[in-house]
Amino acid sequence: MIDFDSKARRWDSNPVFVERARKIAEAIHRRVALDRNMSALDYGCGTGLLSFPLKDVLGRITLKDSSAGMLEVLREKIAEQNVSNMTVRQADLTAEPLPDERYDLIYSAMTLHHIPDTDKILQVFHALLNPDGHLCIADLDAEDGSFHGPEIEVHHGFDRAALTAKAERAGFTDIRFDTVFEIVKETEAGVRAYPVFLLTARRA
Ligand SMILES: C[S@@+](CC[C@H](N)C(=O)[O-])C[C@H]1O[C@@H](n2cnc3c(N)ncnc32)[C@H](O)[C@@H]1O
Repeated sequence: MIDFDSKARRWDSNPVFVERARKIAEAIHRRVALDRNMSALDYGCGTGLLSFPLKDVLGRITLKDSSAGMLEVLREKIAEQNVSNMTVRQADLTAEPLPDERYDLIYSAMTLHHIPDTDKILQVFHALLNPDGHLCIADLDAEDGSFHGPEIEVHHGFDRAALTAKAERAGFTDIRFDTVFEIVKETEAGVRAYPVFLLTARRA
């Protein structure tokens, strides 16, 4: 498990994280007709890097994450910037009963590979979306495990066809992928490039 609490204070000083979120936000904007009446959930929001570029084109945004440290930084940013349409909640939807709220859009960046049960979280996302609601997931394409290093237990990215099958089983339709970013990283195996996809889908 990665200790995200201890990374939270320095998260936004990594220009790659900021640029990655900006590119993912642009891709969501291109693929989904966003409007100020839409309610949205940012799952695994971290410090909110993905939601800030989208906040002026959406209605109410709920930001959920299991890390108290990430949410502390996020709350400070919301207060500093006087943002009025963001609500922050600490949550792990894989370990809690389904909440009552429903959304028109759920987006999630670089979080899916940290969640052991992919089928379960896709089912939860499906249940939390209004009919015809949109799902947008950005994550790593399948990699050899060098992205996090061997000692950290996470999914080694996702095979697009296998993730499509899982999303279909969870009840999603109109599934498509775009490559939206590339993370270039120095690893034990040398300098490597890791593509990041954006999956977009609709609740059937
Ligand atoms: C790689 S960070 C990405 C943060 C942010 N989305 C971004 O793009 O900058 C992954 C985030 O997922 C959160 N996370 C991991 N497992 C989670 C779970 N089961 N439920 C909610 N959040 C989770 C972590 O606390 C962390 O903030």
